[in-house]
Amino acid sequence: MIQINEHFAELPQSYLFTEIARRVKKYQEKHPAADIIKMGIGDVTLPLPKVCIEAMHKAVDEMAYKETFRGYGPEQGYAFLQEKIRDFDFKPLGVNIETDEIFVSDGAKSDTGNIVDILGIDNKIAVTDPVYPVYVDTNVMSGRGGKLLENGCWSNIVYLPTNSENGFVPELPKEEVSVIYLCFPNNPTGTALTREQLKPWVDYALQHKALILFDAAYEAFITEKDVPHSIYEIPGAEEVAIEFRSYSKTAGFTGTRCSYTVVPKSCKAYGKNGEVYYLNGFWKRRQCTKFNGTPYIIQRAAEAIYSAEGQQQVADIINYYHENAGIIRAGLSQKGFEVFGGVNSPYIWFKTGEKDSWKFFDYLLEEKNIVTTPGVGFGPSGQGYIRMTAFNTNERTLEAIERI
Ligand code: MLT
Repeated sequence: MIQINEHFAELPQSYLFTEIARRVKKYQEKHPAADIIKMGIGDVTLPLPKVCIEAMHKAVDEMAYKETFRGYGPEQGYAFLQEKIRDFDFKPLGVNIETDEIFVSDGAKSDTGNIVDILGIDNKIAVTDPVYPVYVDTNVMSGRGGKLLENGCWSNIVYLPTNSENGFVPELPKEEVSVIYLCFPNNPTGTALTREQLKPWVDYALQHKALILFDAAYEAFITEKDVPHSIYEIPGAEEVAIEFRSYSKTAGFTGTRCSYTVVPKSCKAYGKNGEVYYLNGFWKRRQCTKFNGTPYIIQRAAEAIYSAEGQQQVADIINYYHENAGIIRAGLSQKGFEVFGGVNSPYIWFKTGEKDSWKFFDYLLEEKNIVTTPGVGFGPSGQGYIRMTAFNTNERTLEAIERI
């Protein structure tokens, strides 16, 4: 008799954004004429930078000739992209990352989800609350969740409230944990940590032999000088942190798919008897076995953003979304909402003034025809909040704010 992975059965029926899509579809079916503005899932609206399109056309042509055709590529990514990442994303920060510490992939979602493959089942996981649901759900799928409690938390996972009461700076865990997920600039709250606020986390990990999984997917939206672009700006982080980056929001790759993960060669984990293992080799082994690499054409598109023209085009995209974030922040504040985020991030997080996030989500959908994301979908500390994205067009963003 076939046995199912019963941990999947323990999960709530659907993924947050699937549930939102279901509600929107249901509403749309009943009201086909409704003009719905989508500010829910963080999906971009601007087309890819021109340099990416040109690079992809060229790469497609290369595939047409025996001399330039490419089959399987290196699982870790092509050197032409890894070298650009090293030189543009890390060197200017004073961070020395070698190309064999960079693993090009097809999305930060996949990598933050798949990383649990190389972690022991008995690790105690800590997440900030609210949290990007992938971190929690993938740990539940692999058996680290425990029981689902009434408040929506899992009994074996440590939740670190991150809310207006603590200025969106979570406290260090009170109980011993071995893996900590940090996403900064944060999804969903749109808030960031300064270097000074991030340092205690690295110190904690060094002291407790813990691992930080640092999701920096929104790094390109940082505007404030004291906010670090990489966790490796903090001394010692290379021993205790894996960093995830993505081209999705930076360069409009949500549908094109390209990202990378940095696993420094000095980053350690331990066996049952304290023996030291290095995670770089483990992640490499995992990727070589289960992943055949990001397509050549896509990696050429990602490489193109590092040219002078590409950097300008990406900056223009980010500025455009920042403008939207400013419109949302100012508009909601004017209307009396308490608003957070949106300065170093494309996400705006605001207090609804209602107890229930889903109720306010439904109100915005049904009365204003605006799709948002209910804060509680990201965890119990998100109750009473709503997340809006700055990824729609300028016109639609202005219209949404007018409608509220
Ligand atoms: C979000 O809306 O939180 C993100 O777009 C989801 C993702 O990147 O997977």
